[in-house]
Amino acid sequence: MTNEELILEAKKAREHAYVPYSHFQVGAALVTKSGKIYHGCNIENAAYAPTNCAERTAFFRAVYEGEREFAKIAIVGGPEGSEADEMCAPCGVCRQVMMEFCNPETFQIILADGKGKCLQRTLKEMLPYGFGPENLGSH
Ligand code: THU
Repeated sequence: MTNEELILEAKKAREHAYVPYSHFQVGAALVTKSGKIYHGCNIENAAYAPTNCAERTAFFRAVYEGEREFAKIAIVGGPEGSEADEMCAPCGVCRQVMMEFCNPETFQIILADGKGKCLQRTLKEMLPYGFGPENLGSH
């Protein structure tokens, strides 16, 4: 699975966003170490706080299906009706969810806009000094 292919999947996922409040559509495509893809979109809520980001939707769908080993995630986000003029970085909560299931040294986060620009960073780069299961000694 190339980054370009995964970015395309994130763009497709973005079309499923439920964003009546922010009108900001985000799509994510998460790939497991075995090569399976899980898509996610942001799902907003009238009470605002229960909103789920695209990244977490993808992770929670995958974890429900029994997946525990992840290789990389592509994220594409931008205002509704736009092609995503800028790259969209994952929020802190989503980085923390990634920390629960991914090796921060090897898990790759790919940010892409709609115009061919992209940026790839490890989870460790995106969440330095992160707190994860290993800090509890539970692994
Ligand atoms: N959002 C995501 O889904 N992922 C991100 O990486 C950043 C923000 C969503 C949450 C909310 O529905 C909308 O974008 C505006 O914050």
